[in-house]
Amino acid sequence: MLKTIEQRIQAMSVTEKIAQLQQLAPYFYEGGSNMMVTGPLEEYDLSKEMIQKAGSSLGNIGAKEMIQIQREHMLHHDIPLLFMADVIHGYRTIFPIPLALGCSFHPSLVEQCARDSAVEASASGIQVTFSPMVDLTRDPRWGRVMESSGEDNFLNGEMGKAFVKGYQGDLKDSTQIAACVKHFAAYGASEAGRDYNHVDMSERILREQYLPAYKTVIDAGVKLVMTSFNTIDAVPSTGNTWLMRDILRGEFDFKGTLISDWGAVGEFIPHGLATDGADCARLAMKAGCDIEMMTPHYNHHVKKLIEQGEISETLLNESVTRILNLKEELGMFMDPYRGASVEKEQATHLCPKHRQHAREMAHESMVLLQNNGVLPLKKQDQKLAIIGPFGDSHDILGGWSCEGRCEDAISIVEAFQKEGIEVSYEKACTASIDDCDITGFEAALKIAKEADIIILALGEDSILSGEGGCRAHIDLPGVQLELYQMIKKLGKPVIVILFNGRPLDVSSLLRADAILEAWYPGIEGGPAIFDLLYGIVNPSGKLAMSFPQCVGQIPVYYNHVSTGRPKPSVDSKERYCTHYLDIPNEPLFAFGQGLSYTTFQYDNMHLDHTILTHETKIHVSINVSNIGEHEGKEVVQLYLHDVIGSVVRPVKELKGFQKISLKPSESKVVEFVISEAMLRYYTKDLTYQSEVGDFIVYVGGSSVDLQSATFTLQ
Ligand code: BGC
Repeated sequence: MLKTIEQRIQAMSVTEKIAQLQQLAPYFYEGGSNMMVTGPLEEYDLSKEMIQKAGSSLGNIGAKEMIQIQREHMLHHDIPLLFMADVIHGYRTIFPIPLALGCSFHPSLVEQCARDSAVEASASGIQVTFSPMVDLTRDPRWGRVMESSGEDNFLNGEMGKAFVKGYQGDLKDSTQIAACVKHFAAYGASEAGRDYNHVDMSERILREQYLPAYKTVIDAGVKLVMTSFNTIDAVPSTGNTWLMRDILRGEFDFKGTLISDWGAVGEFIPHGLATDGADCARLAMKAGCDIEMMTPHYNHHVKKLIEQGEISETLLNESVTRILNLKEELGMFMDPYRGASVEKEQATHLCPKHRQHAREMAHESMVLLQNNGVLPLKKQDQKLAIIGPFGDSHDILGGWSCEGRCEDAISIVEAFQKEGIEVSYEKACTASIDDCDITGFEAALKIAKEADIIILALGEDSILSGEGGCRAHIDLPGVQLELYQMIKKLGKPVIVILFNGRPLDVSSLLRADAILEAWYPGIEGGPAIFDLLYGIVNPSGKLAMSFPQCVGQIPVYYNHVSTGRPKPSVDSKERYCTHYLDIPNEPLFAFGQGLSYTTFQYDNMHLDHTILTHETKIHVSINVSNIGEHEGKEVVQLYLHDVIGSVVRPVKELKGFQKISLKPSESKVVEFVISEAMLRYYTKDLTYQSEVGDFIVYVGGSSVDLQSATFTLQ
């Protein structure tokens, strides 16, 4: 009979319990078989017992190594090691980056990607992924915007939920893995868009804008939460008792495991909050951080802190219970390998089904920002030139690509070749920051002159976004703008395809005939772009994050609050209203925007009631018609605005969306339901409730193209 968690804890020494709180990287195990104390281990000064009995490991290793390490581990212990990794947008089959997934507005497909990721990761012996990341992002200078689904907490919550459903499903099934929502909390608001910087915001904004997505994901049953690197109200999250105990454990009722971010426990020292490792361990334990990722402060100090009465053994037992519960839920005590095998890896990694899903997801997540009719391309007699650093690049997976390999990806040029379409290609330049080499321009100009249509594949190297990938200038790096200008001068149709991990400043590209935002589209990027360029699939992505007019406009996001001096109209010359003298207030491309090859018409918006009570609901319906010539998908968006509140309210907030498909001349009635619960917010005294009064409901195809009606809450 298997022991209960309680029995296990009773049988463990304090040292064994502390070892459960330690997370190490698999490279500490030197090939898995003999667990030698080597380089990094020496630095960490961990005893052999501690390594042999550590609770979890971090990183990808593959089934063979995992089995070897686990077998060795089980010789010393009857508690299996837990293997965690950053499976962020795929394991070996890499899907578009999370920001792109947000633009799909298609949670069920995101769930499917997460499910595929779980199947591949579990085959390789991973049981926990550090995903989803639901940090609200309003600053594209921050490199980590690529890991989130953008600037809206409702969308982030829906996407986060979809990830969790896909990864976790029924955890007893060994092809599912546990999810970890991160980074709690508000890491996306790092000041000035610089990574690891501090966060300063009112409790109201924290609660209203930043916390809801984590809450949604916690309510969806996510098993772990990861702390964030930033401070909140001058206290680093990992040691922030108010955030972790009062809000996360108390208000949000989170019962799962809390893990620090990489080395965050030790960062209390450079933060100037702790003098030494013992201080770090004490603060993090008190805040309720169960697992210490990578640094060894718990290991070195918790025993002594207990002996000194600084922390109680009960705190330690609580953390160990949560970790062992997770292992039990995953079925690790029954099967420490959870079915990992090299055969399963071979059968699932990059299998045709997953590749097909990667292609579908890339279709759904690219956003057509501009098109004067040059797209879709006709297959006949158009001579094409593809120019630019991403034309034949395999660097299209994006950051956090786990086991993905660039050689698995199909470039645009390769996709054209596969389809038997002749194109000429020149790279012309790179997408690196400091590159000023224009020697490739001449050859590019030559093929451009011979072509009827030019496709410019531009962007930023994938290393320029992701963790530590912040930029103060968010335009095209290197000499790409000069390349665009040179090509544009030819007067021929120019289609720009962008590969990037953040909204870029693309204001200088607006004279292009078409702009397709491809993000980092994953391994099937090239074929998916081919399908979209030729209209085999109609673009349907909508922006999950606004594109600024320029860096000086940041942060710019759709759900800002009303000011006391709104600009009377877009063209107004009024000086004493909220505006810039040199740019509009509106972003270049707004949240929810994205074009299609067809035209959707919205009419007959109807509310079945105009009075809402706590007991009733309002049904909003609108007729959406495809009045163009192509079949297409449309993201129908619902926004609400509270006209008068006890504090100023956002001009609008996304509260629902549906992605529908319509054939030419087809119409559908799309319906949303509004309830009183959707109107609640943190009122003047920070009580979460609704306030009676008038509301505006908006429905449409983007945050800036909407029909409206009013209703009253009584
Ligand atoms: C990142 C986390 C990641 C962790 C483990 C940290 O540096 O902030 O998002 O999950 O490393 O790789």
